[in-house]
Amino acid sequence: MEARRHVALKETIRSIPDYPKPGIIFRDITTLLSDPRAFRRAVDALVHPYAGGRIDQVAGIEARGFILGGAVAHQLSSGFVPIRKKGKLPHKTVSIAYALEYGTDEMEIHVDAIKPGDRVLLVDDLIATGGTACAAVNLLRQIGAEVVAACFVIDLPEIGGAEKLRALDVPVRTLMEFE
Ligand code: PRP
Ligand code: ADE
Repeated sequence: MEARRHVALKETIRSIPDYPKPGIIFRDITTLLSDPRAFRRAVDALVHPYAGGRIDQVAGIEARGFILGGAVAHQLSSGFVPIRKKGKLPHKTVSIAYALEYGTDEMEIHVDAIKPGDRVLLVDDLIATGGTACAAVNLLRQIGAEVVAACFVIDLPEIGGAEKLRALDVPVRTLMEFE
């Protein structure tokens, strides 16, 4: 077997200290995405628990959640719904402000993005404070979605975001952890 096949998925993540602010170690997934085997393995691992079940829509969070969420939706033969930063969606939206590990932001979803009762899988690259993901769940529920689960490539468990999401009754799956 080729040596590259033994490279752990975690080793394909690049860590950049003090970006975008002093004290933050940025976990960069671009190095995973540009590695063909790693990208496929990550998408397959995100999809696996839901294959064979009914997921009507994958909701991806701008921007990195679009890359992974689109691939996951394709594999699950489901639709894809973008959750975007404020001011980017052209039709009527619902919006919510949220806090990040390194700032604040506001996100939106089209009011008619899903049909009431649609089973939705939320996908993003990373969960840190959980501010983004909890806000996304809030938006999805406001427009009538059943949020079946949320999945991420990276968890930063010391920051506690995954636990916040579980406290909203959303099952959470992640592929790797960093401190
Ligand atoms: C990052 C990441 C998650 C979010 C996680 O996105 O892709 O969406 O932060 O942080 P949290 O759990 O503390 O909320 P960012 O807002 O930096 O946007 P980007 O994907 O456009 O770079
Ligand atoms: N989003 C929030 N915290 C992050 C981190 N440490 N690395 C990459 N993206 C992030």
